[in-house]
Amino acid sequence: MPAGHFISLEGIDGAGKSSHLEALAAALRASGRSVVVTREPGGTPLAEHLRKLALGEPMDALTEALLMFAARRDHLIHVIEPALARGDVVLCDRFTDATFAYQGGGRGFDRNVLGQLEAWVQAVPALAAGRLRQPDLTLWFDLAPAIAAARLAGARAPDKFESQSVAFFERVVQGYADRAQRDPGRFVRIDAEQAREAVLQDALAAVRNRGWVA
Ligand code: TYD
Repeated sequence: MPAGHFISLEGIDGAGKSSHLEALAAALRASGRSVVVTREPGGTPLAEHLRKLALGEPMDALTEALLMFAARRDHLIHVIEPALARGDVVLCDRFTDATFAYQGGGRGFDRNVLGQLEAWVQAVPALAAGRLRQPDLTLWFDLAPAIAAARLAGARAPDKFESQSVAFFERVVQGYADRAQRDPGRFVRIDAEQAREAVLQDALAAVRNRGWVA
């Protein structure tokens, strides 16, 4: 059985990451891999309920972070861990870096508290004590907030986060940059200002470089 691989896709709203998920999944499947495509917050019935609350209702940053991590715990236990144990590739639209970027960077919430929640939630039975489940590879679709805002304008009714200011998204980008700097081996930054096909090729190249796709 092949080893499971956990790939997360990150970036600000409007950076275009979601549109590349299915193409990445298709390339991995064409290489003979079983792929689970999923998202956060969400991915289980309970976590999808929590998503509606977190994205729909006003709340303070700690409440928001707790809902994100509660959803994450349910998703990890019921979807991600079983998939990795089967040797599947998990393609996850956002994971904990989004909490550090949005709640930590965007909202300015205490990253030490986020780190404590991360340590509780991502300790899983398959890993030795002290180790946390993290993506093996994080594709960060990086785009200037002003360009992302222009791409989003008129696309659909914005949710709670999509309607935030450019200044909020500048802080989110900084949050991603901080996480990338702390874990450079896991992060691959992709220039999402390029044409869509070039962005996809860069994302595929990152997965290919790991030897996970032919
Ligand atoms: P997104 O992934 O952009 O999905 P869609 O393309 O369907 O809008 O939406 C999820 C939103 O949730 C996004 O604005 C970022 C936010 N979010 C957080 O604030 N914290 C988190 O931990 C996660 C996972 C997402």
